[in-house]
Amino acid sequence: MSTITAPPEAAAADLGALKARQQAAWSSGDYAAIGSRLQIVGETLCEAVDLHSGERVLDVCAGNGNATLAAARRFARVVATDYVPALLERAAARAAADGIDVEEFRVADAEDLPFEDGSFDVVLSTFGVMFTADHDRAVRELLRVTRPGGRIGMANWTPEGFIGQLFRVLGRHVPPPPGARPPSLWGTREWLDRMFGAEARAMEARPVNFVFRYPSPEYWLEYFRTWYGPTLKAFATLDEAGRDALAGDILALIRSLNRAEDGTMVVPGEYLEIVIHKA
Ligand SMILES: C[S@@+](CC[C@H](N)C(=O)[O-])C[C@H]1O[C@@H](n2cnc3c(N)ncnc32)[C@H](O)[C@@H]1O
Repeated sequence: MSTITAPPEAAAADLGALKARQQAAWSSGDYAAIGSRLQIVGETLCEAVDLHSGERVLDVCAGNGNATLAAARRFARVVATDYVPALLERAAARAAADGIDVEEFRVADAEDLPFEDGSFDVVLSTFGVMFTADHDRAVRELLRVTRPGGRIGMANWTPEGFIGQLFRVLGRHVPPPPGARPPSLWGTREWLDRMFGAEARAMEARPVNFVFRYPSPEYWLEYFRTWYGPTLKAFATLDEAGRDALAGDILALIRSLNRAEDGTMVVPGEYLEIVIHKA
């Protein structure tokens, strides 16, 4: 069990500036190229929350529709939200291609959701709300829009897993603004208990691996440099020597975790699959 806690100076961070920087990152590259390959996570999460047909579902930080498509496939009435309109357009295109009905795609800030209190039976977020700038506001909003007795389902990368470690490597080369809290706090049971515990009747959190299966470590690096906003932006910030050093550290991380011995990449990426039953 992790014991990571939020740094006390977090309250002093310029969260507005942080959000603007993050929104620019998620708007860069093409997150859909990454999100489509993570589809199994939304499917598994819908099973974890025991989704029923007809339930009203909100997908927060939906990106190109991972949890949205999984829930709509199960005949839930789904509203997909994100603050990057282009990603919601990609989600809508995927739904159309699969012939799946999604009630609404709405551009919305997870820290200020445009919905009444208790509007949803189930609120989902796969690797989404963990990336908000203001964690306190995001937690409050998730709890507010979930009806009493409803469920909140999340998939959040853990600090110890591959993506948690990747963000630490990125942070060593391109330090985050002072006071910014690590997204991977959302992947720790201790922090979840502290933030959600008072309003939860019960909480389940189990570690799961999403396995990154790519043609090679170098292929993964090139792919994430091109399409994944946080990696793309980190490389864009550095000079040539800095880029080489960052690439070397990322490849070293991948090689330290790689299970494949045939030149390909098979790296488990640990996340917490969380189901919160609201009181
Ligand atoms: C790693 S992507 C995950 C997307 C999708 N849920 C998935 O599983 O593929 C993170 C998403 O969170 C969105 N996001 C981050 N902060 C947000 C905020 N404050 N409001 C709305 N969307 C936000 C980004 O635009 C991005 O689409």
